[in-house]
Amino acid sequence: MRIAVVGSGYVGLVAGACFADLGHEVSLVDNDQEKLAALQAGQVPIHEILLPELLARHRGKRLTFSDDLHAAVKESAAVFIAVGTPPTEHGEADLSYVESVARGIATAINGYKVVVEKSTVPVYTSEWIRRILLRNAAAPDLFDVASNPEFMREGTAVVDFFYPDRILLGANSERCAAMLREIYAPMTDGSYYRRSEAIPGPEGAQDPPRLIMTSTQSAELTKHACNAFLAMKISYINAVASVCDAVGADVQQVREGMGSDRRIGPNFLNAGIGYGGSCFPKDLKAFRAVARERGYEFRLLDEVMRINEEQREHFLKKVRNALWTLRGKRLAVLGLAFKGGTDDIRESPAIALVEMLVQEGCQISAYDPAAMERARQALKSGVEFAGNPYEAARGADALLILTDWEEFAKLDWKRMRNQLKDPIVIDGRNLYDPAAVAESGFTYYSMGRPVASPEEAAVEATPARKIGNS
Ligand code: UGA
Repeated sequence: MRIAVVGSGYVGLVAGACFADLGHEVSLVDNDQEKLAALQAGQVPIHEILLPELLARHRGKRLTFSDDLHAAVKESAAVFIAVGTPPTEHGEADLSYVESVARGIATAINGYKVVVEKSTVPVYTSEWIRRILLRNAAAPDLFDVASNPEFMREGTAVVDFFYPDRILLGANSERCAAMLREIYAPMTDGSYYRRSEAIPGPEGAQDPPRLIMTSTQSAELTKHACNAFLAMKISYINAVASVCDAVGADVQQVREGMGSDRRIGPNFLNAGIGYGGSCFPKDLKAFRAVARERGYEFRLLDEVMRINEEQREHFLKKVRNALWTLRGKRLAVLGLAFKGGTDDIRESPAIALVEMLVQEGCQISAYDPAAMERARQALKSGVEFAGNPYEAARGADALLILTDWEEFAKLDWKRMRNQLKDPIVIDGRNLYDPAAVAESGFTYYSMGRPVASPEEAAVEATPARKIGNS
């Protein structure tokens, strides 16, 4: 099928490349000339595993880039809208880009088309898109507006696309539903997975994936409801971690006990410095705003957001606890991205914390495997950037872990010990086993777990204590 994808941000670019891999002819439309030129020249604007391979495979063949929305719509049977929906100052989603794309689509409709919302949008956006198309002289029998929300995560977006927990298609007519089903047929009939060049899936992936058909409105709402629920899980475990801190319990142990209950599950129950990124913070505000607009005060979401903000203060308190005063302290920071596996720093709690620490008079030496270029532009004074974790740690009063990068999980503690002025680690992501870090000679602070120190580690290691414990 010929498909137009409008917007080449994370969602549009990944979805476009993946549609091409399914066998469709994809026209990726964007009005950012610089981005288009970079994509045409073979550059990959975001750090996303497997995306460079897919772009190389299909660029200039089944995947083309253009700024001509009109032409792309004319030659396509389905048009996916994947433009940005940033928050306004009141928290609602700003849908002006969606509106302007809808206007552009209206004037190009030359036969039946399905217009599909791929960006996360508030419920009833489909209704507005329909109205805009009609107002701009699109004939009502020549289009349907559908919702096909994307559940992929940054950092694992390509694999998430091909191996989703479900494909959610929201359509209000059978004609439209049939067209959407056809787009995903190579996945739902399993044929994609049998191809030799198919992107390999993670262990335990559902193949073929489950297909869920709903009304357009239900699909729109499901996306907001999912992101808000996942954010709520994170805030819940962060609140539990604060109680653990207060009573001396260990949130990892609590998580294991909770997560083994299949009704709860272990995912998104990792305590830390709070959620960030371009989705959760924005989507929670938008979901809250759309509910309010329709007369429901979704106060639970206020609390989820409040706990998330509080996590940063909570972490800062830990730094103060460990170091007493902050002015003039030199701190090594590992991690600037909003999570591991991405170069995205949008709403990154790590960036927010670095800014708070600079404000307190600290000197920061930071390292991130992928996000330093972006961070350099966002962080102005008080921050130096290092070439690796050990360089960042040189002469620092403490080591702070702010992003859950896999490479940080494998630090050489002996080498780190020689770099730091004081052997203090404050881990905002609970990446390490406290006893192991303490045994390497560090005092180790983490989220919702008791402080571990070398003295205790030494006592723990004595045979008498070991026998006593068993
Ligand atoms: C999120 C959703 O997980 C995707 O399903 C969705 O498609 C996407 O938003 C979107 O709406 O486009 P993403 O923002 O890429 O994906 O990142 P997540 O992996 O969900 O992480 C979000 C934040 O929560 C990160 O800051 C992460 O560090 C934090 N987090 C996650 C925790 O603090 N604890 C956890 O247990 C899990």
